[in-house]
Amino acid sequence: MTKDAWRVEGGGEAAFLGLRCSACSGFLEADRLRGACPDCGSPLRAEYDCGALAGALTPYTVAARPRGLWRWRELLPLPPGHDPVTFSEGDCPLLELPELARDLGLGDGRLLVLDESRNPTGSFKARGMSVAVSMAKHLGATALCAPTAGNAGSALALYGARAGLPVHLAMPADAPPLARLEAELFGARVRLVEGTIADCGKALRGEAEAKGWFDLSTLKEPYRLEGKKTMGFEIAEALGYDLPDVVLCPTGGGTGLLGIWKAFDELRRLGWIPEGATLPRMVAVQTEGCAPIVRAFSAGEEEPMPPRAPRTRAAGLRVPAPAGGKWILEVLRESRGAAVAVSDEALLEGARRAAALEGLSMAPESGSLVPALARLLEEGLVRGDECVVLVNTAGALKTPEVWAPV
Ligand SMILES: Cc1ncc(COP(=O)(O)O)c(C=O)c1O
Repeated sequence: MTKDAWRVEGGGEAAFLGLRCSACSGFLEADRLRGACPDCGSPLRAEYDCGALAGALTPYTVAARPRGLWRWRELLPLPPGHDPVTFSEGDCPLLELPELARDLGLGDGRLLVLDESRNPTGSFKARGMSVAVSMAKHLGATALCAPTAGNAGSALALYGARAGLPVHLAMPADAPPLARLEAELFGARVRLVEGTIADCGKALRGEAEAKGWFDLSTLKEPYRLEGKKTMGFEIAEALGYDLPDVVLCPTGGGTGLLGIWKAFDELRRLGWIPEGATLPRMVAVQTEGCAPIVRAFSAGEEEPMPPRAPRTRAAGLRVPAPAGGKWILEVLRESRGAAVAVSDEALLEGARRAAALEGLSMAPESGSLVPALARLLEEGLVRGDECVVLVNTAGALKTPEVWAPV
C-alpha cells in the first residue's frame, strides 16, 4: 500500500498507518481483515501518523464538517474515496447536570454527561459498529457475526442491513428482550445461548470459522474501538480542548474507556491539547456481581480473573473475561484513575436519581456511575471543584424489564 493511496480528497492526508499489538507491539499492515494479534492473541490497536496530520488538519476544519463521527475521517481507518456504512451516528451532546452535581456535593465543580442514547439503536455501540462494518465491507467480508449482551447486537444488525451483509448473533438467553427484537427486525439471525457473553463467543466460534463469517467480537477486531474513540474527540471538542479532570465509564468489555483514552492521546500527539496538559483520570465502573477489572485493579494484578458466577441486571456489564483486560488496567494506572464496583440496587437507584433530578434517561449500566462518583467524592479521590464527565451509554427504555420491582 503506497502512502498516496491514503490521501484525503481536498488536500489533507489520512494518517492511518496500520495495526500494532497492544501487548507484544508487533506491527501488521491493515490491508486485509484482521482479528486479534496472530502472535499473542491480544487486541490490535490502530496506529496513526499524527505528526504528519498536525499541520494539515485543524479543529476548525473538523468542526465545519457535516455532523456525525465521520467528520473525524483522517483519524479513522477507512481509506479516502470509500463510502462509510453510516446512519448519522455520533455527535451526541455533552450536557450539564447541575442538580445532580449539587446533590452529589460537586457544587463548585462541573458535572457533564455525554448522552449516547441519541445514537441509532439508542446506544454508543452504533459508533463502533459504523466503523467496524465499514472496514469489514471494505476489506471483503461477506457475512458478519458477534456474541453480544444485547446493544452491540442490535447495532451490528442495523449496520449489517445498511451494508447489505448478513449478520449472525449469539445472545445470552436472558439478554434484554428488546435487543433481540430489534436485531431481528433488522434481519439478523439470533441464537440464544445459556450463560454469559463468553459462552456466546464459544458457541459462535466453530460455525463462524466453518462458514467464513467475520467475527466482530469486542477487541477481537480492531475497528469498533476506533468508532468508540470518537466519544473522546467529541468530549474534548465540546470543552474547547480543555479536557475534564475525570471521566467515568461503565466497563464491560472496556471499548468505551479504551477508546476515549486513545482519543485523548491522539489529540495530544496532534498538538490540539497543550503540551504538558494532564490527561483525565479514567474510572472504570462495574457491578459487584461481575467486577473482574475492579478486583484486579485493587489487588495490583496485571490481568483480571473471571468471576465464577457473574451476575448483574446490567446486561452490558456481565463480561467476565474482557479480551482487553490487561490494556484496561494499564490505562487506569497510566491515567492515575480508579475502578469502582457498585451493587445492582445502587446502580438502579443512581439512574433513578439522575432521571428525577435532571430528566436524564440512563441505562442501568450508566446508572452505576452515580453511586460510583458519590463514593469517589466521599473518599476524596475526586474533589468537589473538579470537572467530571459521565458516559451515558444508552437510555433507560432499552431495558424496560430492569425497572420493574424484582
Ligand atoms: C448500555 C451499555 N453500557 C455499557 C456497556 C459496556 O461497554 P464496554 O464494552 O465499552 O465496556 C455495554 C455493553 O454491552 C452496554 O450495552
